[in-house]
Amino acid sequence: MNRLKCSLGYTTVQFCSESSGRYLLARLGIHKKAIVTGIPMDMAHRVSKIQNNRYIQLAESWGWIFGVVVKGAAQTVSTLGSGRRAARPSHVPAELEIDFNFSAIDCSNSDIHSAWREMFNKPDIFWTPQNGGHWVVTRAEHIAKVMKTPEIFSSDQIILPKGAKPIKLLPLEARPDEHGPYRAIIAKRLTPKAVMGMREGVRSIAIEIIDGFYARGECEFVEDFAKRFPIAVFLQLVDLPQSDREKLLRWTEAAVRSKRPTHILTSFLHVMNYLEYWIRERRREPGDDLISDIVNAKIDGKPLSHNDIQSMLTVVLFGGLDTVAAILGFTAKFLAENPEHRQQLIDNPSLIPKAIDEILRLHGIVNLSRYVAEDTELGGVLMKKGDMIQVPNGLYGVDDRFISDPLTVDFNRPNSAASHAAFGMGIHRCVGSTLARMEITVFLEEWLSRIPNFQIEPGQSAITVAGQVNGIEKLPLSWSSPH
Ligand code: HEM
Repeated sequence: MNRLKCSLGYTTVQFCSESSGRYLLARLGIHKKAIVTGIPMDMAHRVSKIQNNRYIQLAESWGWIFGVVVKGAAQTVSTLGSGRRAARPSHVPAELEIDFNFSAIDCSNSDIHSAWREMFNKPDIFWTPQNGGHWVVTRAEHIAKVMKTPEIFSSDQIILPKGAKPIKLLPLEARPDEHGPYRAIIAKRLTPKAVMGMREGVRSIAIEIIDGFYARGECEFVEDFAKRFPIAVFLQLVDLPQSDREKLLRWTEAAVRSKRPTHILTSFLHVMNYLEYWIRERRREPGDDLISDIVNAKIDGKPLSHNDIQSMLTVVLFGGLDTVAAILGFTAKFLAENPEHRQQLIDNPSLIPKAIDEILRLHGIVNLSRYVAEDTELGGVLMKKGDMIQVPNGLYGVDDRFISDPLTVDFNRPNSAASHAAFGMGIHRCVGSTLARMEITVFLEEWLSRIPNFQIEPGQSAITVAGQVNGIEKLPLSWSSPH
């Protein structure tokens, strides 16, 4: 493992490897260009001590010291998630400027999806100074156009606020001309046939988790099921021990959810070290699993770089956690609140695939962005090279200009799979969608056969949250316990 020091203007960060360091910086929203140089561990230790009064975190992990030290770091890190305000550029008409911060959407009186639907009362395309300044498209027509024109609306930057990228997330941020081979490596393990082969293992996991709390007659669904299930499925996909579930859950949770930058750093490092360990193992002794595929893949006859390997594994790991957890949570919430719909699935489980699409249509979760690669016009609005556009996929399926009666939930709706963009569109459309659908199907089959009648715990309520992925933080459920 390299020992590295990255100088970022005023911020100095030490990491145990370049790729994990760059990933952490991306996660923390530190987008300055890093000058990366090797630094011996004992020197890193001395630097940290010298800078002690300004240091935020010093931790030891597998014998390597890492941390965020030196002037400016506290300020940089504390901007995490809050976004930067930008002045309106001259090509943005004043009437299209609306002060909108996606990460501060107020869900206290409703839920995140109703709150997003309020966007239909604004101009179809508007510009906000928040989070570095960006456009927001609200209508299905423009969402589809942006997602399906990657040469102009590039995936080179998909996270707000934009900045110089410390790491390229593959295949998510790959250019159209380089994207295919990276995607193909992952896609091979996620075909309908491959996913079908995982199904009974995934079913055992679902049963084991539900059986763990079933007799209690209540659970906090997000903690007790929604987060645990996808981690276990990931471990199965990459053929790693299920006994690692709890620690991986702890680290990924903290890496994504913690409000403490130091906690995020430590947790990410743990995840990275964990993946690094298995990358080395699978290089030494390849198996029949996704990590071995990625580690041993070649593109144009050349093996992937270590950074590319880490990037792809990280996208697969994190791409399938929060997203699946959120959809499981929104599905359970919807069925807890709508007993007639629940009964339809109990009476007729063959409706489940269409029901999943209908639930996905109303509960889209991904609000990633695109980078305008050349001056262009969209819906009569001029956009300049370098602008960012946020694309709330969830609005696609509830736009009444695209779909009739969008707020009616009809498990028999025709063309249900084409009625939403929850898995994206175009070349980056979710490569894990078949696996995700299978996970939700297995959850519904096993949950409804054990717990057909459940409700949100009386006197309590669900908490939904805003972000670049809409989420659900709390869902207290109860049912008549068998005892
Ligand atoms: C319900 C659950 C899921 C939802 C809603 C979802 C949503 C999405 C969306 C919207 C995109 C496109 C992003 C863009 O265009 O910038 C995407 C891409 C991706 N997803 Fe998912 N996802 C889910 C589950 C999964 C799972 C389980 C995995 C992995 C096993 C996964 C792996 C990926 C990967 C690797 C990409 C990048 C594809 C590419 O760039 O070609 N996703 N996902």
